[in-house]
Amino acid sequence: MKAVIAGLGHALPERVATNDDLASMGVDTTDEWIIQRTGIRERRLSQGDNETVCALATRAAQEALAEAQVAPDEIDLIVLATISGDFVWPASACQVQDRIGAKNSGAFDVSAACAGFVHALDISAAMIESGRAKTILTIGADTLSRQVNWKDRTTCILFGDGAGAALLRASEDNSRGIMQSVLRADGSGAPNLLIAHGGSRHPKDGPEDEAGYIYQNGREVYKFAITAMPDACSKVLEKAGLTSDDVKLFVPHQANIRIIEAAAERLNIPMSRVFTNVHKYGNTSGASVPLALYEAQRAGRIQTGDLVLTVGFGGGLVWGANLIRW
Ligand code: UT7
Repeated sequence: MKAVIAGLGHALPERVATNDDLASMGVDTTDEWIIQRTGIRERRLSQGDNETVCALATRAAQEALAEAQVAPDEIDLIVLATISGDFVWPASACQVQDRIGAKNSGAFDVSAACAGFVHALDISAAMIESGRAKTILTIGADTLSRQVNWKDRTTCILFGDGAGAALLRASEDNSRGIMQSVLRADGSGAPNLLIAHGGSRHPKDGPEDEAGYIYQNGREVYKFAITAMPDACSKVLEKAGLTSDDVKLFVPHQANIRIIEAAAERLNIPMSRVFTNVHKYGNTSGASVPLALYEAQRAGRIQTGDLVLTVGFGGGLVWGANLIRW
């Protein structure tokens, strides 16, 4: 039994903020600096209750269900990768369950930051392969623009909001679906990318508490990323007995074009076989990989039978990759 992607969906906030818009909002930056260091030209910023993680995830889920022609009551499980859910708890996945009317489903969130969807996809595939579930809604959604420190120009320019969803179905055709995954963690790197206050160990000391917003040591995370991404990709290819030449499309986490280019070079994958949309959305965290898969498929860059390699990395530190035979 394998888990095949039968439908994809996405949702984006309406408001587009260009790099110049951020400068006008008072961020001490320039369009030139952001493009040169990250490749980001604009991002979507969520506003109000209709563009929260639950709201965006619900819209993405409904589109994936429609494409797969699956009714909500057929869903066995909803796995939502997010680190910016509507509440501290309960899980946002439960809100999605209620909003779409998935009355026969379980639901939980996965906390693996920007590698969240890669983790969620592996968990979902394992549930299907073991026979415990037949139909799973796997979602990545984040609104990190609500958690950045707008006074910290080194991080606030990086993040944007969105959601992407995949409807997975059990298939007896073992030549297709989620073929292999690799998941890794190194908790010693937590201080390089985190929100330190607001958890149970140290509550947030009001809106002026800078440790209640995202902190990132950009250089350390950069160094980690350019090693972790090719490492996870090489390991997953090795597990499957394949090489990077077999990969039709490389769909990496969209954090920074320089990181993507460095990873592709180390893997010997030309940029013509790499999907990027970081220029339009910035780093959408858990939504990044499913949004990229959605756009790549809609643009005709993924066909049935193609081998697709996804990879993510982020706060934890965590990283991981999936190999998908479409
Ligand atoms: O999914 C989570 C993953 N996170 C990431 O992928 C982030 C990984 N790290 C990076 O992508 C890069 O480290 C950044 C894009 C965050 C920063 O690029 P960098 O080349 O490492 O720049 P830097 O932090 O070394 O800063 C260089 C200069 C500094 O000025 P001085 O000290 O040289 O005078 C910064 O103050 O650029 C300055 N700077 C800025 N200038 C204009 C930092 N942020 C900005 C800004 N606008 N937004």
